[in-house]
Amino acid sequence: MKLSDEEQAMLAGEMGAGVAKAMEIVVALGNIYGAADLVALDSAHISGVSYKNIGDAGLEFLEEWVREGARVRCFTTLNPAGMDTEDWQHSDMQTAPAFAAQQWRVLNAFRDMGIDNIVTCTPYYVNNVPRRGDHVAFSESSAVVYANSRLGAYTNREGGPSALASAIVGRTARYGFHLDENRRADLVVQVKTPLPDATAFSVLGFLVGKIAQNRIPLLQGIEREMSEEDHKLAGAAMAAAGGVALYHVPGQTPEATERGEEIIAPHAEYITIDDLADGYRALGIKEGRVAIDWVNFGCPHVSLEEMRQIVDALDGRKIKTRMWVMVAPAVAKQAMAEGVAQRIKESGGELTLGACAIVAPMKQTGIRSVATNTAKGAFYHSSYNGLDIHVGNIAQCVEAAVTGIWAG
Ligand code: F3S
Repeated sequence: MKLSDEEQAMLAGEMGAGVAKAMEIVVALGNIYGAADLVALDSAHISGVSYKNIGDAGLEFLEEWVREGARVRCFTTLNPAGMDTEDWQHSDMQTAPAFAAQQWRVLNAFRDMGIDNIVTCTPYYVNNVPRRGDHVAFSESSAVVYANSRLGAYTNREGGPSALASAIVGRTARYGFHLDENRRADLVVQVKTPLPDATAFSVLGFLVGKIAQNRIPLLQGIEREMSEEDHKLAGAAMAAAGGVALYHVPGQTPEATERGEEIIAPHAEYITIDDLADGYRALGIKEGRVAIDWVNFGCPHVSLEEMRQIVDALDGRKIKTRMWVMVAPAVAKQAMAEGVAQRIKESGGELTLGACAIVAPMKQTGIRSVATNTAKGAFYHSSYNGLDIHVGNIAQCVEAAVTGIWAG
């Protein structure tokens, strides 16, 4: 692989042991995947932030990297933590002090690498918004697929360590989704079912992801213009159910629009989806009218628009179950300024800031069942947290929070 003089110097340790370690990781990946060279990064987004996930071994690895002088060379944001990063003591997550202490050590290690503690899985709602053609290293699967598809940026589906290594050297190896020739659709999905809201897009995404696995789907027949939320929920579900890192929608995603028919690979498989029932079945949702004890919005983190929809559906009513709205701290600030956050709290809901309930130690909450508006959230609440799951749109979930009953 061709390296510039500066890159050779990094690899040789002339810029410190931390930089050399990062460059070794980036070069190793480039060699494995046959990259010709490295490409400069416009930004990065790092997962593997929750102490629950990385544990003491991961924490010590990060702190050692800091001691070795590792500092990021491009703008970098972080995925959510395993607790509310603004007010963990009062959060309904009931975070244990010992966990919080270790979680802060993780966040401080990232801060010492020069990463602002912007903790969210929707960095594109804050200030890490890749432009068309930007090369980035993202390692949150829902953010990867959003950046590649909706925004037309170029990123591989990085792991946490490889995205961090890339951020430290400010470059990534040019292979995979960084090359136009690897971005053509090889699964064309004719969609012949109504998609009235973002939750329907989410279930469609889950179904597509299961079929596609790590292929690149192109969705045909989408009749309405997809909102930001439609893209976010559909892409997140595709990435969770399969390994989808990029999808195209002609006339709606930038690359499909620019490349026209050429975006479809000659060997592409063609399928039709005319019903979402298989998607709901694949999620394993519990059917029928049943009491629930939690409503969860924000997997991925909610937008300001979704918070407005929650408030509209609440219409000033008090809730009977727990209801958490997981959101980026910066988006919560906007919601405070608009009065939306206060109205959720007045109804009895809670905003959890910078947190992910999937990667938080949730056992202590005693929660056993959840209603949520996203297929990704449902899938992980079931598979990671062992909860009974119910999936509906924002209005249905709010109704469940108000009555304490999932209407089935
Ligand atoms: Fe975000 Fe956690 Fe879901 S990182 S996408 S809330 S699994």
